[in-house]
Amino acid sequence: VRLRRLHPDVAEVSVAEALDRPGFGSRAPAQRPFVAANMVVSVDGRAAVHGRSGPLGSEADRALFHGLRARVDAVLVGTGTLRAERYGRLVRDPEARAARAAAGLAADPLVCVISRSLDVPVDIPLFQEPAQTVVVYTASGAPLPPCPAAIHLNAMGPGLTPAGALADLRRTHGVRSVLCEGGPRLLGALLADGLVDELFLTVSPLATGQPAEPRIVEGAGLPAGVALELCSVLEAEGSLFLRYAIAR
Ligand SMILES: NC(=O)c1ccc[n+]([C@@H]2O[C@H](COP(=O)([O-])OP(=O)(O)OC[C@H]3O[C@@H](n4cnc5c(N)ncnc54)[C@H](OP(=O)(O)O)[C@@H]3O)[C@@H](O)[C@H]2O)c1
Repeated sequence: VRLRRLHPDVAEVSVAEALDRPGFGSRAPAQRPFVAANMVVSVDGRAAVHGRSGPLGSEADRALFHGLRARVDAVLVGTGTLRAERYGRLVRDPEARAARAAAGLAADPLVCVISRSLDVPVDIPLFQEPAQTVVVYTASGAPLPPCPAAIHLNAMGPGLTPAGALADLRRTHGVRSVLCEGGPRLLGALLADGLVDELFLTVSPLATGQPAEPRIVEGAGLPAGVALELCSVLEAEGSLFLRYAIAR
């Protein structure tokens, strides 16, 4: 996949060239991992079409999505998204796992799930995969049913917060970089708590006309808004790929 970079300069770049600048992990703050979020949105502001984000993607979007996964220690994903998108093992391509190992990362990134209720969709392929480690943070004291994936269940009680989960990921699992793949309610909570460092946002050239679908940020709201700084703009197949840093 080739992308046209429109900002900060005009160039034609590969996915690796678009993403290979200072590693996320090297920019982690002291108490938690670096957190990048990756979302796709339609031109009319919707994050899904009939409950799935797939129709908003393109070949270049998928290449960047996998390119981001290839560069992080862990992927944080909401239970609504796990369920809707029926997640499986994160990096299925053996060559991609070998490339991660060569770059000094674990061959398989961790999956991180935060669920106050522990309403986790253990029937999806992700939990049937022995090679996949899933770290679950919950306020519940209940167990999860046994499943082939390697589960680390952390019962944090009513004090469970995204910040506490991220701090534990860093402390206990050595995670320095996290990719949040949504969904909108989880992203809203992370933004509200000041826990996102960068946002990769694909604008898909599609008007969905589906006002019941979520926006990319949902939840209790962001009282003061969150200001972003535009870092780069890429284009391929009519999709725009916007990379933002969260202004502090
Ligand atoms: N366009 C995109 O890039 C994109 C990306 C991902 C998903 N999606 C779409 O978004 C939809 C799913 O998103 P969603 O917003 O319904 O679900 P979600 O954000 O994936 O997951 C929401 C769940 O996260 C848990 N959670 C844990 N801590 C939370 C907190 N502090 N605040 C809020 N929730 C917290 C909640 O479960 P507990 O109540 O158990 O805590 C909640 O039910 C699907 O249609 C999917 O296709 C689109």
